[in-house]
Amino acid sequence: MAETTSAEPTRRDMLYVATGAVGAIGVAMAAWPLIHQMNPDRSTVAAGAPMELDLAPIRPGQIVRVFWRGNPIFVRHRTPQEIEAARKVDLSELPDPQPDSARVKEGHAQWLIVYANCTHLGCIPLGNQGDYGGWFCPCHGSQFDTAGRIRRGPAPTNLPLPPYEFMSDTRIRIG
Ligand code: FES
Repeated sequence: MAETTSAEPTRRDMLYVATGAVGAIGVAMAAWPLIHQMNPDRSTVAAGAPMELDLAPIRPGQIVRVFWRGNPIFVRHRTPQEIEAARKVDLSELPDPQPDSARVKEGHAQWLIVYANCTHLGCIPLGNQGDYGGWFCPCHGSQFDTAGRIRRGPAPTNLPLPPYEFMSDTRIRIG
């Protein structure tokens, strides 16, 4: 299942991508078949098989949520401004210091792929919200930046990175 959000509230839309049921609203609906086609069937994913994802339909500023091994994963197409914001942070300010370069794959800085459960107690943070433009967790107020790093609140660590690799500039394999 996947969900997208946009940096612009007026363009915010939701996209549900799953190995089974699907629902989609708005422009993002066109993205569903492309993403869906590349996934193995539900039982195969549940067994932990790698999952391929076509990134081409995901616009700059959008965040798509997919599921792999039952875990939600955010796939964020970062804008140049979001990348710059993540890079210019003084690491001494971070509770869990990591440079932006350690959060993305070399040559693919526009793509941030992180597990979507808040590292406090597991809620799903809201994208493009909070003081740092990344995510805001509505459960207890943790805030993450555009590199998925914890900046404020009770979450102890950054959003973890799942295992993934780029198959091409617009295609990744998770797992
Ligand atoms: S679960 Fe996110 S702040 Fe508590």
